[in-house]
Amino acid sequence: MVVLVLVGCVHPEGAPLGDDMPAPDAEVPDGAPPPDPARPVLPATPPDPADNPRTPAKVALGRQLFFDPILSGDRTTSCATCHRPELAFTDGRPTPPGVARNSMTVLNTAWNGLVDATPPDPAQAPMFWDNRTRSLEAQAKGPLTSAAEMMGTHYTAQTIFPELVARLSASPDYTAKFDAAFGGSSITEDNIARAIAAYERTLVTPQTSFDRGQLSPLAQAGGQIFDAIGCTNCHSGPMFSDWKLHRLRGELIRTPSLRHVTRTAPYMHDGSLATLPNVFQFYRQATENPVDPDLRGVRTPTPQEAPAVEAFLAALGDSAPP
Ligand code: HEC
Ligand code: HEC
Repeated sequence: MVVLVLVGCVHPEGAPLGDDMPAPDAEVPDGAPPPDPARPVLPATPPDPADNPRTPAKVALGRQLFFDPILSGDRTTSCATCHRPELAFTDGRPTPPGVARNSMTVLNTAWNGLVDATPPDPAQAPMFWDNRTRSLEAQAKGPLTSAAEMMGTHYTAQTIFPELVARLSASPDYTAKFDAAFGGSSITEDNIARAIAAYERTLVTPQTSFDRGQLSPLAQAGGQIFDAIGCTNCHSGPMFSDWKLHRLRGELIRTPSLRHVTRTAPYMHDGSLATLPNVFQFYRQATENPVDPDLRGVRTPTPQEAPAVEAFLAALGDSAPP
């Protein structure tokens, strides 16, 4: 019954493109180009900042720190509490307890700021839903000094780093690993952040079906629809973000990357939308009286088009970090 109602409901604006959609199991053509040849694919290796070159020892240390609750005031929370590898480095919750915003994926954040084939300056990479911080190194200090996220209430932004340095220095394992990564006597606030950032720069996923030019016919059709209905006004470039702040409703929020979006529900900065169909419904309303100039002329996928657009979005994130 519900299906009949949906199929019968033709969207008033624009002719539906979805009348002769390819079957979901139609075969993948060899080396088909991405739907918009002007949109480059994800490059293989992101650049490091000049003062934080990646080495295997540093990446291994950063990985250990990312998963270690020793970095939280009460030793219960690690970065991975809210950025879980099995949930595409999100936490699956609308928002963490006491936090106003949805946990973002850490995958491909090494490419934050990428708008075309030119590698962006990693020291200027925009971070958070409102772009308030630049670079993965600076970002890593955010949760460590946030009472709601990791610091807790027994420490302050002034006392937490001396405490963390003391804890890590008391560990022969960490002392040896910091020595290997940075040289002797190197357990410092900056080097904690550098090691974590170096690990995060390995969490990149260039080998998706989209990047390999291996879209299924349904995903290929979805990509053409995505371009045609104006989603690329903002979700543009290899990361499907212009990295700019837009006002879809109340607040100015950065266009999120759509890499891995089919695995990072719930959606939006406040985690208020549970599914992609909910997001499409949101755009139906948001485009009726568009506040943001880049929303003008945009329409949401029709019910017939939605599965193709979802197949396309899935193809942007169907690989795991190496
Ligand atoms: C309590 C949950 C929680 C913990 C713990 C946590 N994060 Fe986050 N993370 C978030 C939330 C929520 C956001 C978005 C916050 C905002 O925009 O205000 C975020 C955003 C980020 C971003 C920005 C992504 C982007 O595209 O801009 C990165 C990178 C990140 N976190 C890495 C880390 C690292 C590294 C740690 C550990 C040092 C960490 N997080 C600990 C919840 C958490
Ligand atoms: C005017 C710029 C703009 C246009 C055009 C636009 N978006 Fe967005 N998109 C955003 C912003 C900004 C957000 C975050 C809004 C928020 O958190 O409240 C967003 C969020 C999303 C999300 C949720 C991502 C997440 O991780 O939470 C999806 C999915 C999405 N958009 C898909 C689309 C589709 C499909 C279209 C075309 C119908 C589209 N967008 C058009 C700017 C835009």
